[in-house]
Amino acid sequence: EGDVFKYYTDGEWKKSASGKSVAIINPTTRTTQYKVQACTQEEVNKVIESSKIAQKQWAKTPLWKRAELLHKAAAILKEHKAPIADCLVKEIAKPAKDSVTEVVRSGDLISYCAEEGVRILGEGKFLVSDSFPGNERTKYCLTSKIPLGVVLAIPPFNYPVNLAVSKIGPALIAGNSLVLKPPTQGAVACLHMVQCFHLAGFPTGLISCVTGKGSEIGDFLTMHPGVNCISFTGGDTGIAISKKAGMVPLQMELGGKDACIVLEDADLDLVAANIIKGGFSYSGQRCTAVKVVLVMESVADALVEKVNAKVAKLKVGPPEEDCDITPVVSESSANFIEGLAKDAKTKGATFCQEYKREGNLIWPLLLDNVRPDMRIAWEEPFGPIVPVIRISSVEEGIHHCNASNFGLQGCVFTKDINKAILISDAMETGTVQINSAPARGPDHFPFQGLKDSGIGSQGITNSINMMTKIKSTVFNLP
Ligand code: G3H
Repeated sequence: EGDVFKYYTDGEWKKSASGKSVAIINPTTRTTQYKVQACTQEEVNKVIESSKIAQKQWAKTPLWKRAELLHKAAAILKEHKAPIADCLVKEIAKPAKDSVTEVVRSGDLISYCAEEGVRILGEGKFLVSDSFPGNERTKYCLTSKIPLGVVLAIPPFNYPVNLAVSKIGPALIAGNSLVLKPPTQGAVACLHMVQCFHLAGFPTGLISCVTGKGSEIGDFLTMHPGVNCISFTGGDTGIAISKKAGMVPLQMELGGKDACIVLEDADLDLVAANIIKGGFSYSGQRCTAVKVVLVMESVADALVEKVNAKVAKLKVGPPEEDCDITPVVSESSANFIEGLAKDAKTKGATFCQEYKREGNLIWPLLLDNVRPDMRIAWEEPFGPIVPVIRISSVEEGIHHCNASNFGLQGCVFTKDINKAILISDAMETGTVQINSAPARGPDHFPFQGLKDSGIGSQGITNSINMMTKIKSTVFNLP
């Protein structure tokens, strides 16, 4: 049966009164790896109550002290990178080296939040009234940034630690308290990460971590009147949350169908390398993965050949052996990906490699001659399958990109900087990368999606600002 990991509240690790647990299935072995507590709604109520109380005191804690604690947590997290990375390997089948990178990147992100926070929040504004018509210089306005209160953070399975701290760091430096609801796959990595904050000595109740079934506590958390801000990264659930959430600021990073537009003058070796990195790293399970290649017909054969040569070199196997392609997160995910591949097969796509699957492990696949009537042309596989659509004009590529309901990132490969800028302007996505695959980082860059890809903008600076509100005091002179 094995132990059930406890949840974290009031500075302590506790068992849920439900007596129930949630199983975490190892995607590689497809057996239960860990179990976490199935918290109840009553426990969520208590967590939010403590969080509210802790926040009031924290908001009064000097900014430099908040920053000091965050730096400490960052250092402890980095010290414990090995056991946390090990959880990532077992819970989400992330390749071993990438798992370590995720934890180190998270430590750096927390430190950067502390540094950025003291600068941004250390400054306010001073305004005078006589610039607006009809006013004398009789009003002085002072503004500063104040915290929102209790921030609810819901990260996804693909970066359970990193996308948790990208919400925790900004929330805490800005004077908020934080309730974390980890994804089921990745929950134990999150609990270990929270232990690092515990060791750093944050005040009791300031950070909590509740685990459980989405059906039991998901809506209850997101619709809770005690929550003052929701930062969510994930899939369609985010759209449902946005509709149900109350009058609180939302930060949503949802899916993407990032297009890679390849012009005739592109450096095809560079493009091929970026399709491999962008399309196949972590087996395509990134919202910023290259999810459709739109290549000019005249260079398509040459590009496909180069990509195929690189696909052949990808190591397929378990995450422990640091393979490039590892099992996808769940059986249902693998079934979904398989459904997309079958649909493309029926409709006549060219399979550059044979479709192969063992359990949750799907071999990397490049699909050439994909047409708009195929599901893979529009849907997000979140797996190691990259479709190629051959285009006869750049406009056709831009049109395909913009016809998507998603608008996260996109990329364009060309040596002509003028064309690159014009195409970037025409693409309806939050970011366009020129001559590189889409990516969220470096983590202080703004990160946002248009349309169904999200609400608001992330990146360290934007998140800190989003998790605060402006407060002004106006001096009225006689
Ligand atoms: O999956 C969504 C992540 O925000 C993507 O982050 O570009 O660093 O892989 P990444």
